[in-house]
Amino acid sequence: MRVGPVSLVASSLLAAAPTLAANAADWSTRSIYQLITDRFATTNDAALPCDSNARRYCGGTWQGIIKHLDYIQHMGFDAVWISPVSANIDNATAAQGEAFHGYWTKDLTTLNKHFGDDDDLKALSAALHKRGMYLMLDVVVNHMASPTMPPDFNNFYHPFTDQSYFHKQCFVGESLDETTIEQCWLGDPSLPLPDLNTENSTVVNMLQTWIHDLVQTYGVDGLRIDTVKHIRKDFWPAWVQSAGVFTMGEVLINDTDFAAPFTQVIDAILDYPTYFPLVQAFVTPQGKFSTAVNMLTKAQQSYKNGLFRTGSFIENHDQPRFQSMTKDPGLVRNAMTFPFVHDGIPITYYGQEQGYQGSSDPYNREALWFAAYQQEKPLVQHYKLMNAARKEAIASSSSFLTTPMKFLAIEDNSMAVSKPPMLGLFTNVGSETSDSVTWNVDSVYQPNEELVDVLTCTKVTANGQGGVSVMSLYGMPQVLMPVSSIAQGGAICPALATGTRAKNSGVKLRSVSVAWAGIIASVLFLGGVAVRMG
Ligand SMILES: *[C@@H]1O[C@H](CO)[C@@H](O)[C@H](O)[C@H]1NC(C)=O
Ligand SMILES: *[C@@H]1O[C@H](CO)[C@@H](O)[C@H](O)[C@H]1NC(C)=O
Ligand SMILES: *[C@@H]1O[C@H](CO)[C@@H](O)[C@H](O)[C@H]1NC(C)=O
Repeated sequence: MRVGPVSLVASSLLAAAPTLAANAADWSTRSIYQLITDRFATTNDAALPCDSNARRYCGGTWQGIIKHLDYIQHMGFDAVWISPVSANIDNATAAQGEAFHGYWTKDLTTLNKHFGDDDDLKALSAALHKRGMYLMLDVVVNHMASPTMPPDFNNFYHPFTDQSYFHKQCFVGESLDETTIEQCWLGDPSLPLPDLNTENSTVVNMLQTWIHDLVQTYGVDGLRIDTVKHIRKDFWPAWVQSAGVFTMGEVLINDTDFAAPFTQVIDAILDYPTYFPLVQAFVTPQGKFSTAVNMLTKAQQSYKNGLFRTGSFIENHDQPRFQSMTKDPGLVRNAMTFPFVHDGIPITYYGQEQGYQGSSDPYNREALWFAAYQQEKPLVQHYKLMNAARKEAIASSSSFLTTPMKFLAIEDNSMAVSKPPMLGLFTNVGSETSDSVTWNVDSVYQPNEELVDVLTCTKVTANGQGGVSVMSLYGMPQVLMPVSSIAQGGAICPALATGTRAKNSGVKLRSVSVAWAGIIASVLFLGGVAVRMG
């Protein structure tokens, strides 16, 4: 008998939605928008009340996402990472409210009805594919969740209907011991996360069948895998193969030595080790770029594919939003530019673009409908520009995706990142001081080459040795590219672009040419009202 989530397949009304079968190379050209399904959009656009602190379902759905794909696509994102889709604990837990985030699985084989039904999820997949966009599903493989202690193994879990499918109870706690991390349980007695016995071949087979069917049934193009470090490494290769699509795993750690072995067993990891020092570098003028560069360099050297197979992010649902730590427009803009000059896949967490300022979980999981999907926000424009610039870089240089970024002119308060044709110029002096920095970079372009800062369309000319010397304005970053690398008639600096390459089809952008002073004024003004909770 076949053991697996066959009911999921059998209950389908629509035919399976075909996956685009995207692999790691396909994904490396993409830019991911991460959202929390419950908090992104409601089916009828009702602005339902949503108090993040209450940890309740607020009413977001897969149909709601479909309605607002224009919003995501207009910013230039071409992949969407949604919350886990499996049925979760139904009732509010005393400790941590409801499972609106989707990480408390009770039944792998049915969908979470709060988000919609089978047809809705297929419709989302089809709607994304029609736009040439990818669907990334978040999946939890390591554990289930229990509203009670001890868990009710006999009446609760599917398809793991018996205690023998689980590891014996013990909690990971703060342990750094590998076996404990892999075989004990996450959570605590107030909300235990019973750990599947992924040493047992029956369990292994069931998890492989499940992921294969899930990907095929809903036309999934890639997976974000939760809590990867809590399963033995040699579990992953066969599971990844059963999935048959790109996999990017969460290895929550601040250490490249710990993270590196996971890059051998799954396609990519979320690059947590560099996230921590990057935030520290960008968040205050006291931050040090050299510390971040050390970690970035270690990751480039120790990961299987350097940083190319990583997801690069500045915010997500488990960390305080960057704008909860600083509202300085210069610091914010620098941090939110870096992932687009990075070797890996840039990931943007919904709400960043609207200036959301929620701190730790649960405050960083605000409803986006309170921001009304405004297009005119300065950071929305910023993401449009950076997505378009990255696409131009990919289209104009066949080696952009395989050339490791180089860190140049590293000072306490500034650094340059060379990734031809891009040169990212970063600073953490901020906008609220009169301090400025000058980036002096040697020989990165042709002598006297004509360049442009794609964020402002300010012209810059390389010196006789191909170097550049540029002063920062208002603490803002600059992203230089040769005018010849930018296609004419596109969205980026159309008055200056001289590139002759055939323009890729795809996202159309309004041309944007802006003065920083105006942007800073509007960020400072709008920041305060952006995140009013209902
Ligand atoms: C859980 O919720 C369901 C329906 O929402 C209700 O019938 C049931 O009594 C609840 N169970 C507990 C233990 O509160
Ligand atoms: C694996 O789990 C199955 C199902 O619970 C159980 O019947 C079997 O005995 C287990 N195998 C081993 C080797 O523990
Ligand atoms: C990682 O975090 C731990 C605990 O917070 C800390 O002790 C350690 O120094 C950090 N390591 C690095 C490389 O940042």
